[in-house]
Amino acid sequence: MNLESKRVLVTGADGFIGSHLVEHLIRSGARVTALAQYNSFNFWGWLEDLPSLGGIEVVSGDIRDSHFCLSLLKEIDVLFHLAALIPVPYSYQAPDSFLDTNIRGTLNLCQAALARGVEKMIHTSTSEVYGTAKYLPVDENHPLHAQSPYSASKIGADAVAISFKCSFGLPIVIARPFNTYGPRQSARAVIPTIISQIASGLSRVRLGDLTTTRDFTYVDDTCRGFLAIAGLPDGEIFHIGSGEEIAIGDLFKLIVEIMKSDAEIEIESARKRPPESEVLRLRCSAQKLREASGFHPDVPLREGLRRTIDWFRDANNLRRYKEHLYNV
Ligand SMILES: NC(=O)c1ccc[n+]([C@@H]2O[C@H](COP(=O)([O-])OP(=O)(O)OC[C@H]3O[C@@H](n4cnc5c(N)ncnc54)[C@H](O)[C@@H]3O)[C@@H](O)[C@H]2O)c1
Repeated sequence: MNLESKRVLVTGADGFIGSHLVEHLIRSGARVTALAQYNSFNFWGWLEDLPSLGGIEVVSGDIRDSHFCLSLLKEIDVLFHLAALIPVPYSYQAPDSFLDTNIRGTLNLCQAALARGVEKMIHTSTSEVYGTAKYLPVDENHPLHAQSPYSASKIGADAVAISFKCSFGLPIVIARPFNTYGPRQSARAVIPTIISQIASGLSRVRLGDLTTTRDFTYVDDTCRGFLAIAGLPDGEIFHIGSGEEIAIGDLFKLIVEIMKSDAEIEIESARKRPPESEVLRLRCSAQKLREASGFHPDVPLREGLRRTIDWFRDANNLRRYKEHLYNV
C-alpha cells in the first residue's frame, strides 16, 4: 500500500514498536497522527525522543473511551493499532486492566474505524496467543492456547477484529509479530533486561527460565513487516518473525560475548512464570507473509543485538532503566 500523503493514525505510538513505526511512516511520506496514552504530565513516552517529532501530530488519550476513539478516527485513512497492555507478569496482577485495554480498546477502535469509514485498519496480535508450540514452525493455523491473561486478552482482541470483518465488512488485517527487540524496549522483556543489567555494571544478571525458546525479530524489520501487511487482504492474519529460535540461556551467552562481559546468571524464582503459564517454545513460520508480499527480515540476531547494545550503552538512554528492579 502506498502510504504517501495518507492520513495515518498509530495507537501505542508512545511505546517501543509504535515509536519506531512512526519513524518508518514519516519516511514513507505518510501524514502521521500519533496517540500517546493520556497522563497528567503531558509525557509522550518514546515519542519524546524522535528528532522528527515536529512533523507529526501527537494526541493524548485512552483507547478505553469509545467517545474519544470516535473523535480520534475523524479524517483518518489508515489505522495501525498497537496500543495494548503487554507484560505477561503484570497480567497476573491486573487481568481486568488487560481485558479492558486490549479487548474493549480494540472494540472501541473497530467501531470508530467502521463509523468513520477508514480505508484500512491493521490490528496487532502476538505469538503469545499460541502458548507453547504444539508443532514447529508455528504457522497461522496453529491452535490458540491462552496460558496467561495477556494471551487471553489478545485472543479476545483478535476475535473482535475478525468479527468486525465478517459481520460489518471492516477492512482489517492482523499483524502477528513474534518477539521483537531493539532500542527503547521496556525492561519487562528479556533482551533489555539482560543488556541493561550488564551495561549498568552488574556482575550477576538476574533472570527467570533459561530453557524457554523464542523467535526474535529486530524492531526495524517488524516495522517493515507492518508496512507490508497494510497492503494485504482483509480478514487475514500474517506472522512477522525470523524463523529461528534461541533458548534464553544461549541468548545470554551471545549478549555477554558481544558486550565482552564476564557477568554471570543469577536465577530469581520471582521472574519465572507459573509452570503451566510458561510458553516453552516458539519458532515462527514466516512463509505466509513472504509469499504474499516478498517480505523477509534483514537484520540477523547478532547485528540487531549489537545495535541494541550500542543504544543501551549511551548513558542518556540507560538512565531511563531501573536495572536493580524486576520490571513486571
Ligand atoms: N514487543 C514485542 O515483542 C511484541 C511481540 C508481539 C506483539 N506485540 C504487540 O505489539 C504492540 C506494541 O507492543 P510494544 O512492545 O511496543 O509495547 P509497549 O508497552 O512499549 O507499547 C504499548 C503502548 O500502548 C499504550 N497504551 C496502553 N494502554 C493504553 C490505553 N488505554 N490507551 C492508549 N494507549 C495505551 C502504552 O502507553 C504503550 O506505550 C502490542 O499490541 C503488543 O501486544 C509486541
